Amino acid sequence: MKLLITGGAGFIGSNFIRYILKHHKNYKVINLDKLTYAGNLENLKDIEKDKRYKFVRGDILKAKGKWLKTRGVDAVINFAAESHVDRSIVDSSDFIQTNVVGTQILLEAAREARIKRYIQISTDEVYGSLGKSGYFTEKTPLAPNSPYSASKAAADMLVRAYFHTHNFPGIITRCSNNYGPYQFPEKFIPLMITNALEGKPLPVYGDGLNVRDWIFVDDHCSAIDAILHKGKNGEVYNIGGNSEKRNIDVVKLILKKLIGHTGHIGPIIKFVPDRKGHDRRYAIDSTKIKKELGWRPKYDFDKGLDMTIDWYLKNKEWWQKIKSGEYKRYYKKMYREG
Ligand code: NAD
Ligand code: DAU
Repeated sequence: MKLLITGGAGFIGSNFIRYILKHHKNYKVINLDKLTYAGNLENLKDIEKDKRYKFVRGDILKAKGKWLKTRGVDAVINFAAESHVDRSIVDSSDFIQTNVVGTQILLEAAREARIKRYIQISTDEVYGSLGKSGYFTEKTPLAPNSPYSASKAAADMLVRAYFHTHNFPGIITRCSNNYGPYQFPEKFIPLMITNALEGKPLPVYGDGLNVRDWIFVDDHCSAIDAILHKGKNGEVYNIGGNSEKRNIDVVKLILKKLIGHTGHIGPIIKFVPDRKGHDRRYAIDSTKIKKELGWRPKYDFDKGLDMTIDWYLKNKEWWQKIKSGEYKRYYKKMYREG
């Protein structure tokens, strides 16, 4: 199989490329990524010389059917997105462009090239927010609350419409909060780990009691792999780690695990004003993918967090360069869009 991975220089995309090359020795991967602030080729340094892998700097807004066809792409997996809720609150323009218009352009290109499988990497945030109990199932009505989740929901509707109108082989995945190696250090878990290591305050929004359902990134990758090979066109699959945690409890656990590494004396948790429209609780019911495709998550939160902390401790240069803006300046000089 030859896969086109869009957004493969980001957090989940880069983990997925590594996962695919490890588990499918005869597969080839093209990584099409615009290298926004979130895209980083250092995430793929260990495989950049692998003959089965090719990077192309490009924008999904310029995707072309002919381009996909001449390269013999069998399947497209669309990870490319603006992905940070806080940024979408400040300015949603890029979110509408990449997440909505970009998805439409990619769908058209994939349709023209008669791609056999298209997977849209969506999110549990399209379902909105839960109260104290209950879970999101694939049948939960969409009720996005942030410009980010609204743009992802719009993209989902386009994939659904292409399946119904054109019999297009599209599948949608909706996963809960990922964590693990190579996550950009403005997202919650890596921000808390790296701030603690730098001796900076740990900013907790509101009362810290918002709940997220955490999944280790490798488990998300194995779920996408199962969907790529066994998923049914036109279907939606929820993916979750069965690991609901309150934000404040995650921060306290990180600090406990970092004892001896931070050199801090006294409290460093800082409660800051809440995110606007902050969703209270997410929790995913992933019965469908478990029953129909036989997928199971492998890592519990404690194990996954240990592995993540260990990675950030061993890769200080990676996140220090991001935090100082060094990579951004370098890519601007080194790569032109293709
Ligand atoms: P990320 O922000 O780390 O990476 C996004 C990547 O997309 C970057 O490499 C960026 O350069 C690239 N990109 C952005 N605009 C592009 C464009 N116009 N053309 C080509 N490339 C472009 O995001 P992530 O956390 O790895 O998330 C990947 C996908 O998974 C997103 O679609 C996101 O909505 C979804 N998702 C994320 C999570 C999570 O917890 N992080 C959970 C569920 C779903
Ligand atoms: O649920 C899946 C989604 O998870 C993905 O679709 C998004 O792409 C991904 O970014 C993530 O969205 P969240 O908004 O849940 O993730 P974030 O890491 O930004 O925040 C997690 C929780 O932590 C949330 O309740 C807000 C809180 N938070 C976040 C930051 C950055 C803080 O309390 N302080 C912070 O500094």
